[in-house]
Amino acid sequence: MLFVTSNEGKYREAKKIGEKYGVKVEWKKMKYLEIQGSNLVEIARKSAELLSSEIKKPFFIEDSGLFIEALNGFPGPYSSFVFKTIGNEGIIRLMKGEKNRKAYFLAVIAYFDGSDVHTFVGRVEGEISEEIRGDKGFGYDPVFLYGDKTFAEMGDEKNEVSHRRRALESFFEFVKLNP
Ligand code: IMP
Repeated sequence: MLFVTSNEGKYREAKKIGEKYGVKVEWKKMKYLEIQGSNLVEIARKSAELLSSEIKKPFFIEDSGLFIEALNGFPGPYSSFVFKTIGNEGIIRLMKGEKNRKAYFLAVIAYFDGSDVHTFVGRVEGEISEEIRGDKGFGYDPVFLYGDKTFAEMGDEKNEVSHRRRALESFFEFVKLNP
């Protein structure tokens, strides 16, 4: 199964999870046009539709984001841009003195089966940590607390509970039923 992404961290997670489901995930390292929008499912669907005219065989993409309750869901669909600009230090700064630290990660997979696009969603609830912790993982992992550890302190344990794991599970189940 072809995974189109420029993000190696995402590919590694998907590959490991695929092994558990007997799905061989192959990496097509490539950037693609991601449309702008406020809804992650719509962004993933439209991006996959656009890309399908170029790739022309089955593939999937994944779009994810971090949603912070006290910031009304920011950075949400802008997670990638926000990470590149203010990064984890910026998130910690924005959340300084904030009591409500609730946040969630959302992952949307859009799968082009050769003719149609199907979407699958996964979500994991956690909190924004008070400081950057851990050196495993990628992106916002060092500021996302799941229980008493950040995702960046969990290593492979993260793959058991992550938003990506949950979205991939529904996707791989679907692929098994619709080979
Ligand atoms: P995109 O899906 O490639 O647009 O990524 C959105 C942003 O969220 C990027 O900055 C990613 O690094 C970050 N991100 C996505 N998934 C995760 C995750 O599992 N852990 C930490 N950061 C993530």
